[in-house]
Amino acid sequence: MIDGKKVLFSGMQATGTLTLGNYLGALKNWVKLSEEYECFYSVVDLHSITIRQDPAELRKRARNLLTLYIAAGLDPVKNCIYYQSHVSGHAELAWVLNCFTYMGELNRMTQFKDKSAKHADNINAGLFTYPVLMAADILLYQSDVVPVGNDQLQHLEITRDIAQRFNAIYGDVFTIPEPYIGKQGARIMSLQEPTKKMSKSDENPNASVYLMDKPDDIMRKFKRAVTDSEANIAYNDSQLGVRNLLDIYCTCKNITPEEAVKEFDGKGYAELKTAVGETVVSVLSPVQSEFERLQKDKAYIDGIIKANAEKANYIATKTLRKVQKKVGFPERIR
Ligand code: TYM
Repeated sequence: MIDGKKVLFSGMQATGTLTLGNYLGALKNWVKLSEEYECFYSVVDLHSITIRQDPAELRKRARNLLTLYIAAGLDPVKNCIYYQSHVSGHAELAWVLNCFTYMGELNRMTQFKDKSAKHADNINAGLFTYPVLMAADILLYQSDVVPVGNDQLQHLEITRDIAQRFNAIYGDVFTIPEPYIGKQGARIMSLQEPTKKMSKSDENPNASVYLMDKPDDIMRKFKRAVTDSEANIAYNDSQLGVRNLLDIYCTCKNITPEEAVKEFDGKGYAELKTAVGETVVSVLSPVQSEFERLQKDKAYIDGIIKANAEKANYIATKTLRKVQKKVGFPERIR
């Protein structure tokens, strides 16, 4: 609890360009929850270097992502929006937690398996212990709730296991976090292969809608979206492409699949695709223009970065000192 409010933590990687999946699965929920909780929204740049990055590009992307959090509607005064690398407590706590995490547990992580298959020439130790750093992110702020898309659930489970293991030895040090998965949009699929999640790293540019895509590109991508030959707008497991389009539509409009299916009764796939494309354009356009406006205001963004890094450090240090004391590190002499 901070000032009588429960704590929320979440983060995104500044790797690649954000997709509609990131927006509908995470960012949109962040905005919804931001009034209710004391929120920490991090640009997780430490996580990004588990894959080789161009330094200038990473810096630029990190700043763009931080700006985008604000453009999407997060108030940077009420919410702590900051760079993970500006708070050294993340790495320090991750080290301690590494010593309370088993190789066997990390070996079971599907994201590690996927990423090591994709980057076979760079299976570094950071990629392997990535979930421990994520646990440190969450536990450092004594978070109650962590809004994420479905793909991060396994990492949330390991975070809870690590916290419970630590608490069982040292007493109630960490709050045990709960995942928050939105009813809709928790798993937006590729527009080209609806069995795969929409991903920043997809090589097919038509597979993902990016947050900064121009209206024409968005419309074109939806028009080319893979559907099926059923010619029937229904929400079921055998029509994954159509279901994904309906999911996107419902999440944007905050309606249920039943309502959407009713709306498209008697209509064809072309109409569905146009309607989904137009809806997405109308959701993303205001975010894009706000992003462009904010990007030009360097002093304002710099001020946010400075103030929030201080706030995050202050809260993080409290947990870190408690942990250091519990495990037996010598006290600091002031
Ligand atoms: P990242 O950067 O891959 O994704 C950011 C958020 O977007 C969600 N997401 C999706 N949701 C629905 N459909 C999709 N197709 C889709 N693709 C991505 C993700 O679930 C995530 O919520 N390891 C994390 C970042 C992280 C983090 C944390 C998150 C680091 N520390 C602590 C929460 C708490 C990641 O790489 O997310």
